[in-house]
Amino acid sequence: MGKLVVAAAASGCAVVACVVAALMVGRSVRRRRGWRRVVRVLEELEEGCATPVGRLRQVVDAMAVEMHAGLASEGGSKLKMLLTYVHNLPTGNEKGIYYALDLGGTNFRVLRVRLGGQRSAIIEHDVDRQPIPQHLMTSTSEELFDFIATSLNDFVEREENVSKPSQKERRELGFTFSFPVKQISSSSGTLIKWTKGFSVEDMVGKDVSQCLQQAMSRKGMDMRVTALINDTVGTLALGHYHDEDTVAAVIFGTGTNACYLERADAIIKSQGLLTTTGGMVVNMEWGNFWSSHLPRTSYDVDLDAESPNPNDQGFEKMISGMYLGDIVRRVILQMSQESDVFGPVSSKLDEPFILRTPLIAAMHEDDSPNLNEVARILKETLKIPDVPLNVRKLVVKVCDVVTCRAARLAAAGIVGILKKIGRDGSGGIASVKTRNGIHNKMRRTVVAVEGGLYTNYTMFREYLNEAMGQILGEDVAPYVIIKVTEDGSGIGAALLAASHSASEVVDSVQLL
Ligand code: BGC
Repeated sequence: MGKLVVAAAASGCAVVACVVAALMVGRSVRRRRGWRRVVRVLEELEEGCATPVGRLRQVVDAMAVEMHAGLASEGGSKLKMLLTYVHNLPTGNEKGIYYALDLGGTNFRVLRVRLGGQRSAIIEHDVDRQPIPQHLMTSTSEELFDFIATSLNDFVEREENVSKPSQKERRELGFTFSFPVKQISSSSGTLIKWTKGFSVEDMVGKDVSQCLQQAMSRKGMDMRVTALINDTVGTLALGHYHDEDTVAAVIFGTGTNACYLERADAIIKSQGLLTTTGGMVVNMEWGNFWSSHLPRTSYDVDLDAESPNPNDQGFEKMISGMYLGDIVRRVILQMSQESDVFGPVSSKLDEPFILRTPLIAAMHEDDSPNLNEVARILKETLKIPDVPLNVRKLVVKVCDVVTCRAARLAAAGIVGILKKIGRDGSGGIASVKTRNGIHNKMRRTVVAVEGGLYTNYTMFREYLNEAMGQILGEDVAPYVIIKVTEDGSGIGAALLAASHSASEVVDSVQLL
């Protein structure tokens, strides 16, 4: 009897053990299958985002071709190639106190800049920065500009109380408005369209300076907008102020864009454009660049289709800070739907823009052995807890693929500009004979860069710099310098307000 009980118990245990073993095998088979599926998603992403140098060179050529087309006729290209009427970059002789207003990203800033009259002598500048209240990004132009004018007024009062004596002359303001604007002069222009999540509908087609001027009048302020500029133009102005070899400027922030110094006679669409310097800064609005050579994935297609501006700003949606995090979110969502390596699909993965780019930078650059930062962000932001290490590594890889593509395409864009203006070395490098032998000689070319994506995201910066070297080659690359300017979008506006102020020649640009 006793033996029977023991035997029955033993066979019962064996059955349980078999069931447990079968369950474990089943689970591990499922896990392996799930893992294979997410690896496939990653491989497809890598393939879709590939940017070998050959492809980057095609993007360089396409950028240069589109630049020509955009300069040839209005609407000739997705690149708007907007005239800025800025033909004189600051010389360093600018003197006096100027205000600047910077509106264009997540923050809005007011600055007061004292210029000393000698290059590099920006004696002081004070800044007030505040986030734009979300509701104002989609409100009316009057509400938005009243808010701006109030903040500006408070700032002026505060500043002038502190730094007596108060200014008797009319104050002058440089306004950096970082959206596509059809300039009518260097101090006025109408908004073509909004980007970066702004959508104040009644503003489109309106004169931006006038809206600000009217709001300032409503506040009883005595201030005149003497320069209306894009942030890229402010960056170029500050870059050129410090280094005269600066010929182009690029922003990698919430949005992305570039401007450069063009020959006036190359701007065919404005035939007869006369400037005293024979040149003009062109705002490319390269965020809207498009080419069939751009490596596009289904994630980009979906992001675009679900955005408030489909078929618009295609390059920006692959490159800029506003979108990179959301591409990564979409990939993780896909992985999570295809397997259970992230556990049950988190509803947070469905929320657009929940994974902001600073978070993907933090995950990408997590150098702790257990990727604790990745685990923390997945848990706190996406509500995905307890992710094993191999899956955390996978997330890092996704960030890497998306950021690497963005940075390399950005590099190709920059070389495209250099190609257009003959500074990419493709025309050959002159050889100069000296006593010590033959030396290659090429003009030094500086590109001013600003924006948190470049300055705060080390991997983006390193991938971009590496790709510049690969595209240009080792003979040419040393002559092309990417230089970070600090606060060009603010200080540059004050500099241009100074060089376009009443005391300077204002109407030295004519359209015949
Ligand atoms: C805007 C540009 C701006 C860029 C960087 C883009 O979305 O269209 O005008 O220069 O963002 O701020």
